[in-house]
Amino acid sequence: MSKITLSVIKADVGGFPGHASVHPSIVQIANKELKKQKILEDFHVTHCGDDLELIMTHRKGVNDRQIHRLAWNIFTKCTERAKKLKLYGAGQDILSTAFSGNVRGMGPGVAEMEFEQRKSDPVIVFMADKTEAGAWNFPLYKIFADPFNTAGLVIDPKLHHGFGFEVLDAIENKSVVLNTPEESYDLLALIGAPSRYIIRSVYRKDKEIAAVSSTQKLSMMAGHYVGKDDPVCIVRAQSGFPALGEVLEPFAFPFMVSGWMRGSHHGPFMPVSFEDARCTRFDGPPRVIAAGFQIADGKLIGPTDLFNDPAFDLARQRANEEADYIRRMGPFEPSRLPSEEMEYTSLPSVLKKLKNRFKKMS
Ligand code: F6R
Ligand code: MG
Ligand code: MG
Repeated sequence: MSKITLSVIKADVGGFPGHASVHPSIVQIANKELKKQKILEDFHVTHCGDDLELIMTHRKGVNDRQIHRLAWNIFTKCTERAKKLKLYGAGQDILSTAFSGNVRGMGPGVAEMEFEQRKSDPVIVFMADKTEAGAWNFPLYKIFADPFNTAGLVIDPKLHHGFGFEVLDAIENKSVVLNTPEESYDLLALIGAPSRYIIRSVYRKDKEIAAVSSTQKLSMMAGHYVGKDDPVCIVRAQSGFPALGEVLEPFAFPFMVSGWMRGSHHGPFMPVSFEDARCTRFDGPPRVIAAGFQIADGKLIGPTDLFNDPAFDLARQRANEEADYIRRMGPFEPSRLPSEEMEYTSLPSVLKKLKNRFKKMS
């Protein structure tokens, strides 16, 4: 059988220092533990900012209990070390002490897809820090529905039929599938509000999976602030999917996302190399890395650090200029998020304090 599952499971188990990065010993523990196991075909461990990323291939399908348990146990082991080193916010994304069979809803973020391996199978794993799950809406739309981004939508007969987008309503917890190009305007009406409507997956019209993202909303699970969701996304490329370069193209423009300092600000999404996946200025700016793999008989060949390239220097420069611009607005919207989307707020206590000083206007 040549079906393979690619699972990317991530968690913030403690930052080093603050919320900037992951301590090298945490990556080491994850590597050591994954080496011991027998259920994976292959794995790769990395980090983006303060998020530890487990990239795994196996034959067990999506939502598999054993695979989720493996990730959960690794995050628990890493949390123990993080606590010993007093890393910042140790165990931040481990919202429970008991494993319930699936890491979804327990803190970690998950993106998984199962597919029949092609003759040659390029995949890109995007990983972000200091932003929310809906951050992928803009690039996924560009990649799979915008012919000004993806030339293949117009000139490649294999892409010309368009794609189907599964969109999650994170507030009502329901989803809808919209097809492009015919329903592009309806799709945009939803996904232009990325804090609520999140693209969960993209399919070719023949039902072949093309992309999946992690859609966990941490604050909704925990009922209080526990950091932004710092999402991941897997995209398949070439031969009936957008070309690798079409998949990367949206990131040449540093679009604005929600997150950054205290999960409460707008900031440019900056594409960076693995080496630069460390959040510094104002705890950011929000960053994205892209790991490119070829999958060969279940093995992960790679990764290539796809944003470690001068072709993205201008995007980084622009991102820094945008960061400078928006930072100067300090506590004013749209630098600060609208009140309902902020992860931190002092507004209720300020209003309470001032309650008796507010005078009715005649
Ligand atoms: C954003 C993030 C950081 C923290 C900030 C304050 O997702 O993780 O920007 O919100 O550093 O952190 P605390 O409240 O832990 O001091
Ligand atoms: Mg953190
Ligand atoms: Mg993070």
